[in-house]
Amino acid sequence: QIAALKGTKQGRLRLGVVSTAKYFVPRVLGHFCQQYPGIDIALQVTNHATLIQRMHDNQDDLYILSQPPEDLALSTQPFLDNPLVVVARQDHPLAGEKNIPIKSLAGEPFIMREQGSGTRLSVQKLFERYKVAVKVRLELGSNEAIKQAIAGGLGISVLSQHTLIAEQLMGELTILDVQHFPIHLRWYVTHLEGKQLSIIAETFLQFLLENSNHVPLLGTLALQSGTLLGNHQG
Ligand code: PGA
Repeated sequence: QIAALKGTKQGRLRLGVVSTAKYFVPRVLGHFCQQYPGIDIALQVTNHATLIQRMHDNQDDLYILSQPPEDLALSTQPFLDNPLVVVARQDHPLAGEKNIPIKSLAGEPFIMREQGSGTRLSVQKLFERYKVAVKVRLELGSNEAIKQAIAGGLGISVLSQHTLIAEQLMGELTILDVQHFPIHLRWYVTHLEGKQLSIIAETFLQFLLENSNHVPLLGTLALQSGTLLGNHQG
């Protein structure tokens, strides 16, 4: 049945993903569409809270996020690591240091994602656990804007390592080797348990599970804390 899909137009795949997943999902979709060129795709990129709302409203076939909600009956599978790392400008005084105590971040000007962001939830949980008070200088609703703000000298932040693939920032930013980082999150693909998946959604789900290890960059982006991204060969 799946073989019959190849080359034929069978309708539409509706995907909802959190903001940090947009750095790899389109590439996977590209490979998928090469095999199944007839499929239309609607890809919604939102933050964690908005994605949960979309789930409640049954708006998409499949969802990709790293913190699936516990109050919804879901069928959920992990498929890829999603490390959250401390990102600073390359000339930050702590750049290049090894095993920086988390307390050293106290008082650092910090750029925080907006309310409703899953990244923010994870970061706040870790800082609360180790009683670290950073100085939130600015809140931004975009990972791209946060990277620009770090490059502009406004502070440090914690971002999914997957956000660090933008070529133009290579060399300007660095990952700080801070204790208790990276925060080890994983990507999950999930759908409402009671939902009968379309053949297209089912096919994409299998494709994602089988192919996410081959996503260029992700396989080679081993965490190299303290290494200038500009020097990273990969
Ligand atoms: P965010 O979600 O884009 O809301 O920060 C990321 C995540 O859930 O991992």
